[in-house]
Amino acid sequence: MSVTDPQPPAPDSRSDAAQEALHDRIAADSLTTRRDYLRIVATVSGGLAVGGVAVASGILHRHGDSDGRPEAKRIADQILPGESLAFRYPGSEDRAVAVRLEDGTLAGYSAVCTHLACAVLWRKERGSEGELYCPCHEGVFDARTGEVTAGPPPRGLPKVLLVEESDGSVWAIGTARSGESAREGLCRQLGDDRPDLADRLGCPGASARGAAPERSERT
Ligand code: FES
Repeated sequence: MSVTDPQPPAPDSRSDAAQEALHDRIAADSLTTRRDYLRIVATVSGGLAVGGVAVASGILHRHGDSDGRPEAKRIADQILPGESLAFRYPGSEDRAVAVRLEDGTLAGYSAVCTHLACAVLWRKERGSEGELYCPCHEGVFDARTGEVTAGPPPRGLPKVLLVEESDGSVWAIGTARSGESAREGLCRQLGDDRPDLADRLGCPGASARGAAPERSERT
C-alpha cells in the first residue's frame, strides 16, 4: 500500500481552520489518487481532525510494530446513533466502551471507573444524550467528554481515540489519559519517532524535532 504524502502545513498555520483545510485537502487527494488506499473520514473522537493519510500511513499500516504505541484495531463494522459497544483496547484485558451520540458524535473511553475500577456502563436513556454510569458508587461521566458529573470518581475517564472509515467501520487508534485531549494523547503516542506526522497534527515542538539534525553516534 503506497501513500502520497501531502505538503506539510506552514509552521504558522496550525489554527483549527488550517487543520480542517489540511484535512479536506488530504481527503480530496486520497479520493482522487488512491482508490486502493484506506480512506478514513477522520475526526478522532475528542474532536481532533486528522487526515486519512496521517492515520493510514502513521498508524494503521504499522500493525505489528513493537514500538510501544497501541496498534489500530477495528472494533465494529458500524455504530449507529444511540448505540454503544463494549470492546477491549489497547490490551486484551482493557475494557473500553464506544458510544455514538444522537448527533453522530463518536466517543470512546476506558470502561474502568477511575474511582475503584468497577465496570462503567452506557445508559442511553439518561439525560439529554445518555451517560456513562458506574453502578458501584453511583459515579456518572459525561458521554461527550468523559468528565465526572456525579459521584466519587476523582477524574474523568481516559479516552480511546476512535476514527470512522468511509465504509462506516470504526477503529480504535490510540488512547488519551484523563484530562488529556485527543491531540495531546496522539502527539504523546507519536512521540519523537514520527516527527512528520506529529508536525501535520500540530503537535507542540514537532517542527523543531523534525528539523533537528541527527546526532552522530559516539564510538
Ligand atoms: Fe465507580 Fe466507585 S468504583 S464510583
